[in-house]
Amino acid sequence: MISDPVVRIAGLPDAVHIAAIYTESIKARDSTMDLETFTSEAAADLIRNLRSRETVFVCEQDEKVLGWGIVKLYSKRPGYGRACETSVYVYRDRTGVGIGSRIQTELLNYATEHGFHHVVTKIWADNHESISFHEKFGFTLVGIQQEIGYVDGENKDIAIMQYILSSGD
Ligand SMILES: CC(C)(COP(=O)(O)OP(=O)(O)OC[C@H]1O[C@@H](n2cnc3c(N)ncnc32)[C@H](O)[C@@H]1OP(=O)(O)O)[C@@H](O)C(=O)NCCC(=O)NCCS
Repeated sequence: MISDPVVRIAGLPDAVHIAAIYTESIKARDSTMDLETFTSEAAADLIRNLRSRETVFVCEQDEKVLGWGIVKLYSKRPGYGRACETSVYVYRDRTGVGIGSRIQTELLNYATEHGFHHVVTKIWADNHESISFHEKFGFTLVGIQQEIGYVDGENKDIAIMQYILSSGD
């Protein structure tokens, strides 16, 4: 019997999966400005170097990691202390079945519990799936940063989306 997917805090053994999932998105050229293969060592460093109030979650089912997400500080400047940034990545062959939603729910709960008030996410403007995904959670479009990215010889627009949490008031 297939078990329910579970979201939990990531540990170093998850680095290999985090790297593989993220590298899929890097190669797809639709969701991140990282352009080189993301290694397991880089994923382990990401986990090791998390600052206070930052976290990485993974979603696993039957002991296989299917997706991951991160809450990170928007800025180290203290005036931005109530602002965080989130991202979610799911194995491409496991999208559309609720894995991302489970991760996003936990990211937003975590952000609430850790005193954040404003959540920002940066999305490729033509990544309509991700924009819909964030809209489902109540994110709204702040605006489009035109031609801020340059990938494979083409300018790329970025959609900035925000979500205001009731916490941190
Ligand atoms: C965006 C992403 C994280 C969503 O995760 P997911 O597991 O596919 O999402 P879910 O199955 O939980 O779907 C939740 C909602 O997202 C939206 N969504 C998901 N896939 C969609 C698609 N192909 N087209 C339009 N909307 C879509 C829908 O609103 C959906 O709600 P619904 O099921 O009630 O219609 C995932 O598709 C992904 O990893 N994409 C590639 C990387 C990426 O773009 N990450 C975001 C960078 S911040």
